[in-house]
This record gives sequence, structure tokens and C-alpha cells, in this order.
Amino acid sequence: MRIESFSLSSIVLNLASLASFFAINSLFSRNHSLFSGLSFHVFLFIPPFTRMLLQNSRYTLGGVDVLEVVEEFGAPLYVYNADTIHRQFTRLDRAFSGIEHQIKYACKALTNVNILRFIRQCGGGLDTVSLNELHLGLQAGFEAKDIFFTPNNVSFDEVKEAIALGAQLNLDNLPMLEKLGQTYGGSVPVCIRINPHIMAGGNEKISTGHINSKFGISITQLDDIVRVQKQYGLDVSGLHMHTGSEIVDTDIFLQGAQILLEAGRRFKTIRFFDFGGGFKVPYKQGDKETNVEELGERLAALCHNEMKQRGSSFYACFEPGKYLVSEAGLLLVRVNVIKQTPATTFAGVDSGLNHLIRPMFYKAHHDITNISNPEGAVKPYSVAGYICETDNFAWDREMNEVREGDILAFHNAGAYGIMMASNYNSRPRPAEVFIVNGKAHLIRRRETLEDILRTQVVLDL
Ligand SMILES: Cc1ncc(COP(=O)(O)O)c(C=O)c1O
Repeated sequence: MRIESFSLSSIVLNLASLASFFAINSLFSRNHSLFSGLSFHVFLFIPPFTRMLLQNSRYTLGGVDVLEVVEEFGAPLYVYNADTIHRQFTRLDRAFSGIEHQIKYACKALTNVNILRFIRQCGGGLDTVSLNELHLGLQAGFEAKDIFFTPNNVSFDEVKEAIALGAQLNLDNLPMLEKLGQTYGGSVPVCIRINPHIMAGGNEKISTGHINSKFGISITQLDDIVRVQKQYGLDVSGLHMHTGSEIVDTDIFLQGAQILLEAGRRFKTIRFFDFGGGFKVPYKQGDKETNVEELGERLAALCHNEMKQRGSSFYACFEPGKYLVSEAGLLLVRVNVIKQTPATTFAGVDSGLNHLIRPMFYKAHHDITNISNPEGAVKPYSVAGYICETDNFAWDREMNEVREGDILAFHNAGAYGIMMASNYNSRPRPAEVFIVNGKAHLIRRRETLEDILRTQVVLDL
């Protein structure tokens, strides 16, 4: 478990970090009032409360007692910790400090406007894939020029609307580039998504840069891109790649970057290269993660060489989704039933693949902690949801004894949790809570039957 337990050494460590936290914080922190009643305190260094802590048999997150949060807001519930998002943002920002860069949060991972506002306060821009994401970004206070629009297989009308809103275009097919040229000539800067044909990412569903992928324009069609660019005088502001999620191998990442940089030599107007997202975070103890520091150092060297070769400078963009918000989130669920079968002990919970689809969809591992019984004897459990098909969160997972009514915490639920949630089985989606400055704020209320009925049209039959 990636939980810091409250041993003597951790007391000393936490006291030391607390002391430095308050000392430095008072010197460097800024207070941001974003909504009435909700004020974000953005720290300029990495804060200590970024994981659940076990103290006196109670788990806390961001200085808040997690069971009390469930008592106040109910279960199932998503809870996000601002400190963790800030820690991840700061780490990435530092890792890429060898080159001028922008971090564009891939907000598909989690679009609650409060999260978007917090990331803006951290200094990030946005990467969006739909007009609604773009609108949410604008509502969260991002300037349109700081928002990428990276759609796939959308209509040209959608692209025109994104242009009207002032977003930075990132297009990934030749017919769309032709339409852009025919309609706007070279008046709208465009970034072009290249498919470098490399196999990267955690599994086939999240690999996007290989030869059979629907994403990007094939690197083998570079001559065609150049032809369209010349025909319409397109202003190619950047080249982009996003080859997959959960890329651990920095060599593969750099291989893609090299292909992108070389392709960029065909375009004199380039101001930036967007190297995408896909940085992996650990999901369990001993799990590999992307070494962003090593990647940052090697990528900066690659880019500086390229600048010499080009005789002009450019900046880099990155689009982390999971890296910024995955570890910040917990999904808290209540145990409804303990069922013993001849083969296994099931802990049946008040949630399912309708709230966290990753275990069933990607075979993803999510750590699970029984936060109600931290000292209970460790036993194996299969944790399953209440949906009408197999929706296990885990099989034979060692956990502290689970009893009816206990609260379980699924870790790494910040990214692609509520965003991939559905109303399957006509179940409402959970509420969302954001912990900022040691206080838990409701940032989305729980859905109700009325919400599920709202868009239905009842016929007079
Ligand atoms: C274009 C693009 N950029 C960034 C991301 C973010 O990926 P991750 O959450 O793995 O960082 C995605 C994920 O699908 C994507 O499609």
C-alpha cells in the first residue's frame, strides 16, 4: 500500500516537513479567491499532505479526516486532493525546466471546473478534445489562446466554432487541413498532429501512435502535408504527437520526439513542438513510473540541438492528464454485503464499473484500502460492484478485514474516474469533493433520479 503509516520516523519527518511547510508557505504562498466562498491557496513549493496518512487509526487526506468526509457527503464519493495535483504539476514543471515549455492539462482526465481553475492557478494551460471541454476551460477562466483544441473525427463546423472561440487548433487529418486552407487560407495558425508510427503506452486501448491507430497524420504522408501547406500558405505553428498513455520507456518517447523534430524541418513557421502526454504514475507499490526528470533532461538536450540545426528557437508543450490528477483522487465506497462462496470472499460495494471502469476496461490495478478497519487482520477479498454484470474492482486482494458497512478507498481514481462514469443500471453518478487548504468542498452534487429523467421525453401513449 502506498500509505504513510504513523511510525516514529514518520512523526519526525512530518513534523519537520510541517515546520518548513508553514515557514516557507508564509513567505511564498498566494491566495486566490476563485469563487465566492471557495478560496484556493496555491503553494509555490511541494506541500507535505499529498497522500493518505494513517494517524491514530484514522486516515486523513490533505489534513481532512476521510471518514468524516463520507459522513458529511455520503458514499459513493470521489475525493480529490489539491496538494497532490500541485505536487505533480510542480514536479513536471521542474523536470522540463531545461527548455521553455507550457504544460497543457489534458482535461479529459477530469473536467470539474474547480479542478481546471486550480490547474490554471498552478500555471497550466489546457488541452481539449471537444467543444464542451473548450467551453468548460473558458468558464474556468483560461484564455482561449492557452487552450489547445485537439479533436479527432469531428465535423468542420466544430473546428470553425473552435476557431471563432480563439482556441489553438491541432488537426490530425489531411481533408481537414485542406478545408482549413480553402476557408481561411493562412490566416489561422494550425498545429498538426503527426503519427510517428511507434508502439508506446500501457496497453493497446491506450496506444495511439502506431501504424493502425486512427490518430494523427502518418509520418509517411509528410510530403502530402507539405503540399497542402504550400498550396494554401498554411501557417503551421507547431507539430504534435501523443503516442499513448502510461509510457515508461523514455527511449521510446525520445524516439517519437526525434521523428517529430525532424519532420519540423520542413516547416519554417514552427514556434513549438507538442510532445503530448502519457506520463505514467504508479498504481501500486513497486509500480514503474515515467522518470520525468531523466526525460526532461534528455528532451531538452535534443531540442537545443535541434534549435541549432534549425537556426531558430521554439518552445515545447506537454499534455499530461493522468500525471496531474490520477493520484489526487480516491473513490470512496461503502460495503453492502460480505458474501462467502466456496471459492472466494466477496466484498460487494455500492458502486461498480459505472463509476470506475478502468479495472474491467483496461484490466487496471487500483489499490484498495479499508479505511474503516486499518488494524483488521489481513485477508484476501474479491471486491465487486452492484452492476448486473461482472464488475470486479479486484480479485483476491489482501486487505484489512472487511465488514458490512466499511468504507473502502479506491486509489488513483482522479483520472478517468468520473469522466468515464455512466448511468448504467440507471445508477446516479457520485458527488465530487475537493480538498483545498485542509477543508473539504463539495464541487459536484450527487445525481438523483430527476437528473436521470431530465433529458427523457415522455410520450402520451
Ligand atoms: C491528445 C492527447 N493528449 C493527452 C492525453 C493525456 O494522456 P494521459 O492522461 O495518459 O497523460 C490524451 C489521452 O487520451 C490524448 O489523447
